Amino acid sequence: MTWGCALCLSLVVWATLVTATHYVWPLAFLGLGVLAVHITDWALKGLNNLTNKAILSQGHTRDKAVLITGCDTGFGHMLAERLDHLGFKVYAGCLNPNGEGPLRLKAGASYDLKTIKLDVTKDSDVRAAYDFVQTDIGNSKLWAVVNNAGIGEISEIEWCSMSTYQRVLDINTLGPIRITKAFLPLLRDYNGGRVVIVASLAARYTFAGFSAYSMSKHAAVSFADALRLEMNKWNISVHTVEPTLYRTQIASESYYMKALNQTWENLSEDIRNSYGNEYLKDYKSFIHEHLNRALPTEKIAEVVDDMVHAVAGIQPKSRYVPNIKTQIRARILGMLPTDLVDDIMLRDLPSTPPADIERRKSQHLIDPRIGPGGQRLKRIFSMPSLQIKRSPSPKIGDFFTFPIVKENLEE
Ligand SMILES: *[C@@H]1O[C@H](CO)[C@@H](O)[C@H](O)[C@H]1NC(C)=O
Ligand SMILES: *[C@@H]1O[C@H](CO)[C@@H](O)[C@H](O)[C@H]1NC(C)=O
Ligand SMILES: *[C@@H]1O[C@H](CO)[C@@H](O)[C@H](O)[C@H]1NC(C)=O
Ligand SMILES: *[C@@H]1O[C@H](CO)[C@@H](O)[C@H](O)[C@H]1NC(C)=O
Repeated sequence: MTWGCALCLSLVVWATLVTATHYVWPLAFLGLGVLAVHITDWALKGLNNLTNKAILSQGHTRDKAVLITGCDTGFGHMLAERLDHLGFKVYAGCLNPNGEGPLRLKAGASYDLKTIKLDVTKDSDVRAAYDFVQTDIGNSKLWAVVNNAGIGEISEIEWCSMSTYQRVLDINTLGPIRITKAFLPLLRDYNGGRVVIVASLAARYTFAGFSAYSMSKHAAVSFADALRLEMNKWNISVHTVEPTLYRTQIASESYYMKALNQTWENLSEDIRNSYGNEYLKDYKSFIHEHLNRALPTEKIAEVVDDMVHAVAGIQPKSRYVPNIKTQIRARILGMLPTDLVDDIMLRDLPSTPPADIERRKSQHLIDPRIGPGGQRLKRIFSMPSLQIKRSPSPKIGDFFTFPIVKENLEE
């Protein structure tokens, strides 16, 4: 907590210094306003939490069915178990229903839990799953759809093939859209049903190496935001769960290393030489360190708790960020100006320069002052000043326009 406050304080000081010569007051008020809103929101959520943990009792779960995607392992698997114990009729979508995970899930669950083959990228699977649920559901009604299936991806943008981008987006973004659209007719039968979308902290912040993954999760959350508004008239609520990295299958190091090896071998000679083997080695340790930061297995339950709350809570929240430390970090990160966020994130990246940069430096082909991270546009703080210069009484909307890009091009 104290470091959070210290960071905020130094930020305010920093912001003030940067803009001291010109527009201290408008910016200070804007900053304080944003800070106040966040702190209030945060405090209210904290208070809300104390009273709000109740979930539906067994008597109220009997007539409710839930469809979950991605139940082979991890969060989905555990959620299916928990909801089954709570008395829901669970349809557990699995990539491979005859795999070890799904068989174990079925063996340990009640007769009411059914595993179904459901690859969220396949329209035919989705249609078959819909038909199965519709006939199997009997006197129950579809109460919730949990879009949990997802895939991770770590790669440099320059190395990542278009087909990889397409695959990640197909699973993480189009998957939830495909599933939700297909099951809405059944869901609408129940006055008060729910859609849950398991996103990620990467849905709000973008980390280097995670372009495909972050984009896919950002888009999924955006879909959830629109869906929440549009489903309001049907009394269907929409909830996102946005965990950081935990030690589930998605944090498997061997998976990413194998994928990286394949990606690297697939690259053109040219690109491989530009980056070089030293850089690749450093990139592997970057992946290793990142995955090492995954929260331990015993904490996975806190994510599943939030998922259960989203499905069965009496007063579910629109957005869950499991783990209080993650929440604080996310909130601070969300308040910081882009440049500062960049500075923080750049610290974690491989420090080995690509082979080509070294080569050019040694041949004096580049001005050493314009190396990576050397120069950048200062967007946030020059933005209001440019507007204020033009109009004597700036409107609030002026703060949210982006004249800076053009301005700089003209220089
Ligand atoms: C909407 O659904 C909730 C259950 O989630 C129910 O308690 C409430 O009465 C419903 N509202 C209306 C207006 O039907
Ligand atoms: C990746 O490639 C390196 C070097 O070719 C090799 O040592 C390593 O075992 C490979 N890793 C995986 C997971 O295939
Ligand atoms: C290898 O490159 C081809 C062509 O760019 C692409 O279609 C394929 O998906 C790539 N494979 C991998 C593993 O990146
Ligand atoms: C509030 O409760 C939710 C769900 O139990 C949890 O994810 C979140 O971390 C809690 N937030 C705070 C501020 O305690």
